[in-house]
Amino acid sequence: MGVLLVEHAFAKINLTLDVMGRRPDGYHEVDMVMQTIDLADVLTLEEDPAGAITLEANASSVPLDERNLAHVAARVFRANSGVNRGVRILIDKQIPVAAGLAGGSADAAAVLRGLNRLWGTGKTTDELAAWGAAIGSDVPFCVRRGCAVARGRGERLEPVNHRMHAWVVLVRPPVFVSTGDVYGALRAEEYSRRPRSPEMVRALAAGDFEAVRAGVHNVLAPVTFRLYPEVARLAERVRHVAGVPVHMSGSGPTLFCLLPTRGSAQRVYHALRGFMREVYLCRFLPSALAPPRGGRPSVEP
Ligand code: C5P
Repeated sequence: MGVLLVEHAFAKINLTLDVMGRRPDGYHEVDMVMQTIDLADVLTLEEDPAGAITLEANASSVPLDERNLAHVAARVFRANSGVNRGVRILIDKQIPVAAGLAGGSADAAAVLRGLNRLWGTGKTTDELAAWGAAIGSDVPFCVRRGCAVARGRGERLEPVNHRMHAWVVLVRPPVFVSTGDVYGALRAEEYSRRPRSPEMVRALAAGDFEAVRAGVHNVLAPVTFRLYPEVARLAERVRHVAGVPVHMSGSGPTLFCLLPTRGSAQRVYHALRGFMREVYLCRFLPSALAPPRGGRPSVEP
């Protein structure tokens, strides 16, 4: 048996998501604060002596062929690195699919990181993030992880080092949402040009939980609520039961509440479990970009 290697593919939530306008290439110019959370798919990579790229997963909700972003990532890695070896990728899927949590992008990023280790290619995080941009807008962030302000179409990253702990209760409505459809339905009058990211970054840096929660804002939420009214109704119900503000991540439909303590998060989690099947209790992943302990925070890993 060949070498086995494990990579965790962590999900993200959007603390802010602002759209500045539509670009000539059809994408939208965004300004958003993204935060990694500790909900993760687990990928196992193993050298395939036959030289093929193959996928296996414990979920029927993801394609196991070349459409899967993990498969795309393996091909992108081979093309960019010039290493033409094969790999078997086993995905233990924990992140809800098509949910606004960047599950597919996280898998792709984990494959880039994993192949770099498996094949000893010594690429830097910056190089892998640049390759990731060709796979999807969220992949560069998923390569780096932690917290960052993302601009451009999401691939231009400015790391945010903070040490804030917050708990996140996720609710995944039983609706599949296409990111392209949500961006496509966004009307010009729904664009917001008010810069919110600097305030969010300041609140995170200050460890001010109330200011962070008050600053969470996503201009795509009204669009998804308009396209999928059942998500809007569910958000209202979650707000009522949880007794705290409810937000949407990415293009949705996943809703989330931020809580300051494990106890308060557990109360909300159990209350929501009473009427929703897919509820997750997680928390901010400590910044992967900050030094492990002591020392001055730095923008480089
Ligand atoms: O980059 P990704 O493949 O994840 O994007 C999926 C779709 O979402 C794009 O085809 C585009 O329609 C839309 N999108 C956008 N602006 C962005 C990111 C995504 O319009 N910044």
